Amino acid sequence: MNITVLSGSPKGKDSVTLQSVNYISKLFPEHTYDVFHIGQTINALMEENGDAFDAVMASVTQADLIIWATPVYTCLVPAQYKRFIEKVFADGKAPLFKGKYAAVISTSINFFDNYAVDYLRAINDDLDTLFTGSYSADSYDLLKEEGQIRLAQFAAQTFEDVTSGAMFGKRTYPLSYSWHVYESGPAPEPVDSGPLKVLLIQDENYDGTNLGRMVDRCTQGFKADIEVVTLSELNVKGDCLGCIQCGFDHACIYEGKDDFIDFAREKVAPADILILAGEIKDRWLSSTWKQFFDRSFFQNHVPALKGKQVGLLLSGPLTQMVALKGTLDAIVEWQGAHLADTVTDEVERSGFIDSRIDTMVRRITAFAERGYVRPATFVGIGGRKVFRDDVWGRHRFVFQADHAYYEANGLYDFPHDDADAMKMSEDMIKLTQDPDMRQAIRKMLKKEMVKPHKGIVEKTDAPND
Ligand SMILES: Cc1cc2nc3c(=O)[nH]c(=O)nc-3n(C[C@H](O)[C@H](O)[C@H](O)COP(=O)(O)O)c2cc1C
Repeated sequence: MNITVLSGSPKGKDSVTLQSVNYISKLFPEHTYDVFHIGQTINALMEENGDAFDAVMASVTQADLIIWATPVYTCLVPAQYKRFIEKVFADGKAPLFKGKYAAVISTSINFFDNYAVDYLRAINDDLDTLFTGSYSADSYDLLKEEGQIRLAQFAAQTFEDVTSGAMFGKRTYPLSYSWHVYESGPAPEPVDSGPLKVLLIQDENYDGTNLGRMVDRCTQGFKADIEVVTLSELNVKGDCLGCIQCGFDHACIYEGKDDFIDFAREKVAPADILILAGEIKDRWLSSTWKQFFDRSFFQNHVPALKGKQVGLLLSGPLTQMVALKGTLDAIVEWQGAHLADTVTDEVERSGFIDSRIDTMVRRITAFAERGYVRPATFVGIGGRKVFRDDVWGRHRFVFQADHAYYEANGLYDFPHDDADAMKMSEDMIKLTQDPDMRQAIRKMLKKEMVKPHKGIVEKTDAPND
């Protein structure tokens, strides 16, 4: 069987993820594994009329199975990998993948790895591959016997599927989106955002497009001039290389070599309101936007966006983008930022889009003035716990700067440190050993649970004026 391995890690042969593929190749030596270090060689792959990209496409043409092997980077795939995927579509190479069997192998700390898999699944549906399944492992799974057995089982089933001609359907429908021209109507009543710092970031200059007009409407909505930064116009030398040199002191290897770190520290960090604008590209935003999120990883697991209001101005079919909605929610929520509003141009009526943008400007300003951040859902709560445990535990040495931050800012909120709760539980467990008491407490549970809440409501008076 000819297997094309598309490896997403910028670390090339030193990729942790790739070791899972190498392990499979040892167990199943009867197959041919054609490995391409997509993440590491992205610059060569992107060259106009270069041989590197053609070589990958030639391998895909011969392949019986394509393995997408990638680390998870900021809840998705690395920017380099996304850029490669964009090129496959842009160069009209998607038909080469049609009807090929495909599988995903990823490694991560399982922090929103589900969206990386969802994204690749959707891309494969768009490429018309026969998607056999995904294997999203913890980075250290391969070191454990259980992980080795499981990986071998996954590989065995995948190969069996290919040789037996198994049939697979799609999980993502083709995008159905009719594009309408948006024209902004009468100028909005501008909102006075006072001393609040508002920063609008766009990946490209969208002048003359729907998004360009949406951005204009949004900037006009603020009384004061707001700062607009275009990522493609910043001097950014490259994507995150996953080298983790930032772990000890949050200093990036690109520091002093390009503008990104200064931009993050001097523009993003002080902003009260962040408005992010972008066009949807394949099943996410552009690889330029992905680069922004990946490069922001020099702050590792510190919630650098904490308390900020975030608004999204997007052009394209957001309502059909599971991974895009999910990752943006996750990135904002785990950090304790507030996704105040999202406006897209999916709706046909320009007047409606105008009103939505005006509403977003008013609400995001009001939220910032009130200092309101919606309570985190499972996305934020669960995400923070995954990071808390990882930084406290196995990765403390690597992420020393995070550890110091987590200690200093009370992020190590382990349940076993809540002495009152532990004591109460211990006492109550003892009490409930007695059968009569057990029965009595059972009956009281419902009322006792709500008693303190009722107490708060009772104590609360109407405001004076
Ligand atoms: C920039 C960057 C972003 C990351 N983002 C995530 C993430 O969102 N979720 C996660 O579970 N792991 C994340 N990780 C951890 C990697 O997925 C993990 O270490 C992986 O095993 C690396 O594989 P590789 O050696 O093949 O590159 C991130 C690592 C880096 C360097």
